[in-house]
Amino acid sequence: MQQEALAEIAAAGDLDALQQVKTKYVGKKGLITQQLGSLGGLAPEERKSRGAEINVVRQAVQGALDKREALLKRAALDAKLQGEALDVTLPGLGLPSGGLHPINRVYSDLIGIFTRLGYEVAEGPEVEEEHYNFGALNIPWYHPARELQDTFWLKDGPDGSSEPGVPRRLLRTHTSNMQIRYMVEHEPPLKMVSRGKVYRYEATDATHEAMFHQLEGLVVGEGISMADLKGTIAEMARGLYGAGAKVRFQPSYYPFVEPGADFAVWWENPRGESKWLELGGCGMVHPHVFKAVDDLREAAGKERVYEGLTGFAFGLGPERIAMLKYGIPDIRYFYANDPRVMRQFRGELG
Ligand code: DAH
Repeated sequence: MQQEALAEIAAAGDLDALQQVKTKYVGKKGLITQQLGSLGGLAPEERKSRGAEINVVRQAVQGALDKREALLKRAALDAKLQGEALDVTLPGLGLPSGGLHPINRVYSDLIGIFTRLGYEVAEGPEVEEEHYNFGALNIPWYHPARELQDTFWLKDGPDGSSEPGVPRRLLRTHTSNMQIRYMVEHEPPLKMVSRGKVYRYEATDATHEAMFHQLEGLVVGEGISMADLKGTIAEMARGLYGAGAKVRFQPSYYPFVEPGADFAVWWENPRGESKWLELGGCGMVHPHVFKAVDDLREAAGKERVYEGLTGFAFGLGPERIAMLKYGIPDIRYFYANDPRVMRQFRGELG
């Protein structure tokens, strides 16, 4: 019986087959169990020796069962793992991917529109000299606009004051500094846009941040007129909001343009609501700006080339556009780096 049992154990190809062999020999009604049960009918002497004999058989069979079971279990696990490794239908592991920040998406829309119109893209400093941010833009020291745009000043001097004869520095309050920088470096005619961060010393709330973004545009040449300005802003609005986009201009005051205007586009959100969206300011470049640029050029040993020309400028804030486009209710979400907000812009590049 032992030999038979061992042969059957060795032949069991899987755990189910082994379980059957186990039941057959050592189960409650198994053959070996029955043998042990029948000992009661024997004489005491015989019972002892017979009992010992059966126990040897039982142990051999149980040992073989245990060994075979462990082997079959490992084989089953191996087969399962191998099956998994080869399962080409399983979805891949998701790799976390980045995405473009909503402000960068709006910027790339805008830069795309203007580069297709032949504009150069310029970059400039966020730490700026007072003259480029204010003076050359026809904003004299006593002008209220310097207070309207509450300024972060740099403490350049040893005691936090400015050194006599050394220009005071600040964090630029607008990208209009790039009008000056670009004209000092480049000859007309020109078409330029410049994007970047600007800073204002203000209390923050849902629509105000101490740091935000602007896009500045400047076009200078002979005979550039207000009509060119309006056509350009309308073209930008069509690029952003489609062929049917409507634009509105309202007179406004900025020291570096004359006449100056604010512009708005008629904006329809995905829920079908529409309203005028104030996008930014614009106007015809003030002659004082051209004069200040020529003064700077002359001081740098360059030709005076701007006086007598005309041009237009505009400036706008991409945060406004992005808040409405993506339904972001608070400007502070853009810069709080809250992953729950930024995750929503993952993996898409448009
Ligand atoms: N620099 C202005 C601001 O920060 C925006 C602006 C208005 C820019 C009129 C311009 C312009 O170029 O012509 O509020």
